[in-house]
Amino acid sequence: MKANFNYIQMIDHALSYSKKHHDRFVDELIELLRIPSISTDLSYSNHVAHAADWLVEHLKSLGVNNSKAIQTNGHPIVIGNIEVDPTCPTVLVYGHYDVQPADPLEQWTSPPFEPIIKDGVLFARGACDDKGQFFMHLKALESWMQTTGAPPVNIKFIIEGEEESGSASLPNFISEYRDYLAADVVVISDSSLFAPGIPSITYGLRGMTYIELTLTGPDRDLHSGTYGGAIHNPINALAQLIAQMHDEDHRILIDGFYDRVRPLSADERKSMAALPFESEKWAQEVGVDIPVTESGYSVLEASTSRPTLDCNGIWGGYTDDGAKTVLPSKASAKISMRLVPDQDPDEIAILTRSWLESKVPASMAMEFKVLHGAQPVMINTNSPAMTAATEALNDVYHRPPYFMRIGGSIPVVADFKHLLGLDSVLMGFGLDSDAIHSPNEHFGLDRFAEGIESIIRFHAHYASIEGSK
Ligand code: BES
Ligand code: ZN
Repeated sequence: MKANFNYIQMIDHALSYSKKHHDRFVDELIELLRIPSISTDLSYSNHVAHAADWLVEHLKSLGVNNSKAIQTNGHPIVIGNIEVDPTCPTVLVYGHYDVQPADPLEQWTSPPFEPIIKDGVLFARGACDDKGQFFMHLKALESWMQTTGAPPVNIKFIIEGEEESGSASLPNFISEYRDYLAADVVVISDSSLFAPGIPSITYGLRGMTYIELTLTGPDRDLHSGTYGGAIHNPINALAQLIAQMHDEDHRILIDGFYDRVRPLSADERKSMAALPFESEKWAQEVGVDIPVTESGYSVLEASTSRPTLDCNGIWGGYTDDGAKTVLPSKASAKISMRLVPDQDPDEIAILTRSWLESKVPASMAMEFKVLHGAQPVMINTNSPAMTAATEALNDVYHRPPYFMRIGGSIPVVADFKHLLGLDSVLMGFGLDSDAIHSPNEHFGLDRFAEGIESIIRFHAHYASIEGSK
């Protein structure tokens, strides 16, 4: 069937179906967005399971075979597949149906799990990251199924519920289900356009070492008058440790931290410098007058291709209203380090721990926990799937995509490469301004439609490129 079948001509049917049914697609997405599938907070586990079950039912309704939610030690992983023809190429679609916590709730202009459309923009936690984005793949598939009867490629889904909390169950799952997951390429929509109307394909992701640190001084909170001055304060000590982690050039001072950092190539620096990026405007959009980077690097370089160390949260002592004169027993911080090739998350954890042990004052006991890690990634941009994605985006946006590195992490991309030898095409439709992980997350419905169209076109291009080999 494949040889005499011109997919490029067939897509008109699928595309017009997706346009005609756009509003219903959005209504369905809204149903999914109503489920508060926050993976990191175990009190939401029932909702996470509910989202997995909802997805299984939805996949079944699209005609996807073997749709099921597979239990793990963490949250369920949803799978399903459409096998059109064993001689067609196979696309493995990855997405995540879990979302970040929604707090601070008071900063949302409408409740995070009561989706609302304002001026063509859908507001809800998960609207962009990643429910709104992986759902485009389901709707692209539906558009083929309901018009030509099947997509021009075999499609497999793996949609996990733990991405926002570190994808702990995924590596084992991938190894165990390696036969089921066999494919030619992975496609993921969980990243961003370069700017509205300017498509991009992400070829670099940062990795991550995420730690939690607790210093304990006295065995209980003390009166800060009776004891202050002679008992070391854990919050003061923690603040001092954190302050020593960077120098005045914003370089990280942990010994060995930069040893494996692959320098940016002259070509990469040149192509990044050529991108239409206004760094001050970028900073002002988040309410900051001037960006601050590691000395010697541009904002784009520093925010996508250099490693970081950021305190994500810090607590201890008395933080409620009014004053309470207390010398706290404990102080804690959560710290994320974004890594770049060829840094290794486990090695960075060890280096960080030894650095901390050498600095922590004798008056404190230190507890050091690694919460999760992710390998940094670089993807070869020269492959049939990358060509197909380039052509698809070019068809939709009437301009070729930029190839870029981003600062965020998608841990599974390295797992697919190392465990299955599979490359990923990161074709995302978010925008930096979509407020993912922040209050008022949103996704423009124009981009939801562009994404579905791009995915349909990707299938057609990939089938014809791979089919003509
Ligand atoms: N969708 C994001 C990755 C991303 C971030 C893409 C920014 C484009 C721009 C993903 O869901 C995410 O947030 N990942 C976490 C992974 C972490 C918990 C290991 C991240 O980057 O913090
Ligand atoms: Zn995401």
